[in-house]
Amino acid sequence: MFDEIRFNKIERLPKYLFAQINDIKMAKRRAGEDVIDFSMGNPDGPAPKHVIEKLIESAKKPKNHRYSVSKGIYKLRVAICNWYERRYGVVLDPESEAVATMGSKEGYVHLVQAITNFGDVAIVPDPTYPIHSYAFILAGGSVQKMKLPYDENYEVNEEEFFKNLYKALNDAFPKPKFLVVNFPHNPSTATVSLEFYKELVKVAKKERFYIISDIAYADLTYDGYKTPSILEVEGAKDIAVESFTLSKSYNMAGWRVGFVVGNKKLVGALQKIKSWIDYGMFTPIQVAATVALNGPQDCVEEIRQKYKKRRDVLIESFSRAGWEIKKPKATMFVWAKIPKEFEKIGSLEFSKKLLTEAKVAVSPGIGFGEYGENYVRIALIENEKRIRQAARNIKKFLKEAKE
Ligand SMILES: Cc1ncc(COP(=O)(O)O)c(C=O)c1O
Repeated sequence: MFDEIRFNKIERLPKYLFAQINDIKMAKRRAGEDVIDFSMGNPDGPAPKHVIEKLIESAKKPKNHRYSVSKGIYKLRVAICNWYERRYGVVLDPESEAVATMGSKEGYVHLVQAITNFGDVAIVPDPTYPIHSYAFILAGGSVQKMKLPYDENYEVNEEEFFKNLYKALNDAFPKPKFLVVNFPHNPSTATVSLEFYKELVKVAKKERFYIISDIAYADLTYDGYKTPSILEVEGAKDIAVESFTLSKSYNMAGWRVGFVVGNKKLVGALQKIKSWIDYGMFTPIQVAATVALNGPQDCVEEIRQKYKKRRDVLIESFSRAGWEIKKPKATMFVWAKIPKEFEKIGSLEFSKKLLTEAKVAVSPGIGFGEYGENYVRIALIENEKRIRQAARNIKKFLKEAKE
C-alpha cells in the first residue's frame, strides 16, 4: 500500500552489515550453542557503586521526577567543565560552552542535524564508527571520505593524514564544512599526539572548516599513552567541539550520559535543537553523573586495568593459537588483521566462518568502511577465561583450515 510514498532519508541508510553476524549468532544461541561474543563495544561491568547509590537517593525525591533541563542541569555542566579543567587545563563556560547529552551518540547526531544544511559536505576518515558518517547522510548532507593512515602500532601517520585530508578537501564539492576526528579511534584503535591537533587546528582555520572530535575512549589507554584533547590547542575553541561519554569510563552505557563542549556557535546550536526535541535526561541520572565526574576516579582506573588485562590475555593467547596481532595502545578493542590464509575471502566471510566454526563472534572490518577490509574488530567484553576458551577454539579452527 502507498508504494509511491517513499522515505528517502531512511532509504539512504544501508542495511546494517553487522546484522548478518547477529543473525548467525542468535540462531546459534537459540540452538543452545555457546558463542563467545566479541562483536559489540558494550561494556560488561556494573556502574560504580557510589554512582548507583546516588541515583537511588535522588530518584526518591519527588521534585526530581519533573521534566529536567534539555541542555543538562547546571551542576552537571559545571562538573563537565571542571573535568576538562582538571584533566586538560581547558577552561569552559558551563552556560555557553557545554551541553549534556543522552550518550555521546545522541549528542553527535543532533549536533549534525542542527548544523548541516542540505548538500553540505563533511570529511570522515575511513574506517569509521558508522554513525560518524551516517549522521550527515540522515541530515541531508554528504560525506567525503579519506583513508585513515596508521602504522603497525596503530599510530596515525600524521604526514599521510594531512596529505589525505588535503586531497579530500580538493576532491569534494561543495567545499567541506566539517571534519570528524575520533582518537583513540573506533574501530582501528589509532592514536594521535597533541602536535597532530596543533597542525589540524591550523589547517581548519586556513581552509575554513569546523572540527568535531569524539574522545569516547579517552580513559582507556595503556603503556603510558595519554589521550590529548583538541581543546588543549590554543584557539581550538574557535573551530572545534569535542564529545565525551560516561558509557565506557564508568560502565554507564545504558544510562545514556555524555556531553559536547567547545565552540559556542556549535554548542549553542546543539542546545537549541535539544530544547526543541527533548526535556533532558531523567534528573537523578544527571545528579548521579555529576557524582561520577566529581567523585573518586579509582573506578575508572579499575575499568582501565580490566581492559588492559583482557587485551594482554587476548594478544598472548591468540598468538599461541597462531593468530599474531599487534597490541593496541587504547580503547576497548583489538583491531586484528585477518590471518593471511583468509585474506582472499575478506573480513565478512572470515567473520561468518569464525562464528560458524569456532563459535567466536567478531565485527568484520568492512562494516566500518572500505579501508576496514582485511581486519576484524574484537571488543574486549568477555572475561579472561572466555578469552582463553576463544583462543582454544581458534587454534582448532586455524589448524583445520590449514589442512
Ligand atoms: C567512537 C564512539 N563514539 C561514541 C560512541 C557512543 O557512545 P555513547 O552514545 O554511549 O556515549 C561509541 C560507542 O561505541 C563510540 O565507539
